[in-house]
This record gives sequence, C-alpha cells and structure tokens, in this order.
Amino acid sequence: MSTIILGIESSCDDTSAAVLIDGRVASNVTASQAVHLRYGGVVPELASRAHQQNIVPVVDKALADAGVTGQDLSAVAFTCGPGLMGSLLVGVSFAKGYALALEKPIIEVNHLQAHVSAHFIEEEGRELPQFPFLCLLVSGGNSQIIFVRDYMDMTIVGQTIDDAAGEAFDKCAKVMGLPYPGGPVIDKLAKEGNADKFVFARPNMQGYDYSFSGLKTSFLYTLRDQLKVNPNFIEENKADLCASLQKTVIDILMKKLIAAAKDMKINTVAVAGGVSANSGLRAAFESLRERRGWNVFIPKFAYTTDNAAMVASAGYRKYQRGIFASQDIAPFSRTTL
Ligand code: KG4
Repeated sequence: MSTIILGIESSCDDTSAAVLIDGRVASNVTASQAVHLRYGGVVPELASRAHQQNIVPVVDKALADAGVTGQDLSAVAFTCGPGLMGSLLVGVSFAKGYALALEKPIIEVNHLQAHVSAHFIEEEGRELPQFPFLCLLVSGGNSQIIFVRDYMDMTIVGQTIDDAAGEAFDKCAKVMGLPYPGGPVIDKLAKEGNADKFVFARPNMQGYDYSFSGLKTSFLYTLRDQLKVNPNFIEENKADLCASLQKTVIDILMKKLIAAAKDMKINTVAVAGGVSANSGLRAAFESLRERRGWNVFIPKFAYTTDNAAMVASAGYRKYQRGIFASQDIAPFSRTTL
C-alpha cells in the first residue's frame, strides 16, 4: 500500500499544501500573499488573515491535483515552527482539525528540517545526498549551517547572530527603492553589474556564525555619503551596487560553509531556503563541485522558497519511523532544531 502524506506550510507568508505519494511529489500548491507588497515586508496580522482565506482552497487543490481524497491519506504533516505565531496557528489548527475529522495521524515538522528535507524528495533519476552532509539554509528569516547526520538527526553548527542573508538583500533593496522581496530583483540587476566596484564591510565572527547587520550598515553609509555629492548615485550605479552586494553576501556565506566542511572533513554540501534561488549562490555551489570535486546538492526552484512539498517530505520520513504528534501540540516561534 502506498504512503500518502498531505503536507501543510503556513509559517510566514506562503500558504502551501502538497501531497507526496511514497516520497514523490504528486502535487504542490502555493498561494503567495500579494497583500504585503505595498508595505515592503510581511505584516504578521495580514499574513494570518490571508492564510485563513487560502488554506481550504489550497488544500482542496493539492488533493485534487494529486487525484486523492482526504480518506486516502496516511497522515497529515504540518509546519509547527519556527515562524510567525499567527500564521503557524492557522496551519497547525487546520491540520489538527482536518486529521481529527478524518481519523488520521498527525506529524509535526520543524521548518528548518523541512527546508533540508527538500533534498529527500524522491524523483526519477535523482540521487539523494549521502549522510553526513552540511546544509546551508538561507532564507528571509534564517541563515544556518546545519550538520545533517540522518533524515531526522540535524544540528545547527553556525547561524546568524542578527539579520538573515535574505533580510540583508531585502533591506538593502528597500533603501535603493527596489520592490519587495529584494533578493530576486538584486539577483537580476547584479547580472549587469561590476561586482568589484564597491567594497562593503565583512564580519569577523568566531566559529561558523554569521552576521549581516554590519554589511547592511556599510551599504547604507555608502549610499548616504555618495548621495550627498550625486543625487543620481543610486540610479547610475544600481547594477554595480547589486552585484557588489550580492558578491559580498555570497562570499560571507561560502567562507564559513567551506571552513566548517574542511574542519569536519565533509565533502557533501547542500543549499536550501529562498536565497538558494540566487544565481550567484548556485554558481558558487557548482564551483565547489567543479573545483574541489565535492558532492553538491542544489534544490529545484520550486523547493527553494517556502513550500509544502518539503514539509510532506520531512513528514514522510517521520511516518516511516512511526513518529507522530498528539492533538495537544502547539506551534512555536523560536528557532530550534
Ligand atoms: O524561504 P523563503 O521563501 O522564506 C522566508 O524565510 O521568508 O525566503 C524568502 C527570501 C527573501 O528574503 C527573498 O529576498 C530571498 O529569499 N530570495 C532571493 C532570491 N529569491 C528569493 N534572494 C536572492 N536571490 C534570489 N534569486
């Protein structure tokens, strides 16, 4: 008999539902929330309201696309945290109520573990990473180096002490007057720019931890100083600013990842999270494969930003080991693994 897992993701501003049949994606439906665009960032209260509107149609579509009904499900997996509390509450409450009505087991999934689990999605001709490996998780809310011993055994070995990598992109984009989210826009503009034109601050953190707030401040100071002498500075240098910023972020990320991999004698690395859609970062990972001969795993674009396929993937591995949650489980907001 097949194992059919419904995954539900609602930790931030994407309402997503997916069905995995024996570890393979049968459907993956995401409703992104346009309501935040005009504010230049996610407004938590608006996010939870939009999740409430989206969750039923998104789950209905995921089931229909996969050609299954609620009765066919083996279990319902859902993101329990970390994330925005109001957003998480919608997905967690829906999952619990839906599973209770169908008399199906529930599986709680950690959002960070879900991002890593995007690499465990089964697909014809696709190789899964061998354990142990290091996963660089970079998104709007996270920047971590995760040591992955097994499907469910993961440890954070380094993480940002302030802003996340995606946040650095989004905030610098905002001060340049670019739309939200800034990451994809910077990625596009950077292709036309000179990455060596501007030099921004790089952190000097101990161990494998990251920091991006100094970079953000030095970016801001460059704009402030240059705008005093040339009011058109941003317009005239947009592509070069984007290229230099992107290069700095990627260098910061890769330096620590490579140091951790060398120290731990690991030559299998993966990247996950929204920022892993970045073309420069993907190229930096490719070059680890080409120049160092490392085993490199880069997710498909559909599994980089928040999506329920990765939640269902983590849920599938837990299901196989009989790890279920009880109905009194509550969402959590703080980063933990
Ligand atoms: O994983 P994700 O969807 O969820 C959050 O943690 O919010 O990541 C969103 C982040 C945003 O900061 C966005 O700017 C960034 O991923 N992002 C990118 C690219 N595409 C999305 N950053 C750089 N280059 C991209 N192509």
